[in-house]
Amino acid sequence: MAKPKVYVTRRIPEAGLDLLAHHAELVVNPEDRPLSRDELHRNAATADGVLGLLTDRIDAAFFDAARNLKGYANYAVGFDNIDVAEATRRGIPVSNTPDVLTLATAELAWGLLFAVARRVVESDAVMRSGRWPGWGPLQFIGADVTGKTLGIVGSGRIGTAMARMSRGFDMKVLYTSSSRRNDALEQELGARRVPFDELLAESDFISIHAPLTPNTRHLFNAQAFARMKPTAVLVNTGRGPVIDEAALVAALTDGQIGGAGLDVYEFEPKMAEGLAALPNAVLLPHIGSATRSSRDGMAELAARNLIAMLEGDTPPTCLNPDVLKK
Ligand code: DGY
Repeated sequence: MAKPKVYVTRRIPEAGLDLLAHHAELVVNPEDRPLSRDELHRNAATADGVLGLLTDRIDAAFFDAARNLKGYANYAVGFDNIDVAEATRRGIPVSNTPDVLTLATAELAWGLLFAVARRVVESDAVMRSGRWPGWGPLQFIGADVTGKTLGIVGSGRIGTAMARMSRGFDMKVLYTSSSRRNDALEQELGARRVPFDELLAESDFISIHAPLTPNTRHLFNAQAFARMKPTAVLVNTGRGPVIDEAALVAALTDGQIGGAGLDVYEFEPKMAEGLAALPNAVLLPHIGSATRSSRDGMAELAARNLIAMLEGDTPPTCLNPDVLKK
């Protein structure tokens, strides 16, 4: 029997490609760049399965183009690039890659938090410039972390991991959650679920882990920054559009908040004008899941999801499992 055709929209770690190659006739985008919409649609046209990235828009136009499609596997835990309702209407299973990147992403959020609090990047730049005059009592004075208040926006897997990692720093933990109470956080850390405004007003550090939805787009806007402490540090390792980036630049410039550590941007790969020039911002190129084990784990999980879809089995992390019951 002929193997199903699978198209992979950008090279991913071998762990996933090897798995797929056993089960499918594989075509991998040879260029290390995101595809245009036209290229995506053209390459998906004859595929039985597609493994794609957060930069691929998986919507009605994609499903129209991919006429043979039996399943789509996202190489990301976030799935705001997929119109899941449309996939479900068409009976096409779609999946994401949760769990395998939880710790890596939470660890990076802590890295950003410390980098901003202790001005690590500014200090590094002075050393490299050869302009450090030697130790001085007033140089690069930053913020304490231990004993401060940490606000977690979105207490799913990654937000929960981020909160747990605060244990070593004896922090008071506040959180918001759009769904239910996080009993684990409340019992283990004495964390308190609070309204968003209270979290803004009381937190010294705020870390964003909520998914991008119509409700969370621009959740952090000029009004939100006005409610935060002037010393507060905002960290975002989730999705860029949760922050109104132009408003963030204004808040950082005017001293309305103390600093920001960003791994994600509203219009990736671009940044809002003025952001790159701000010394109180630490800016990373969307590397939250970029550890060997996480990226290999994502590749394997995405591959296992797609193989299951092609074989009519239930994928391990399907976003719309109901389509398989019909
Ligand atoms: C995700 O998985 O959603 C990240 O943004 C990339 O790993």
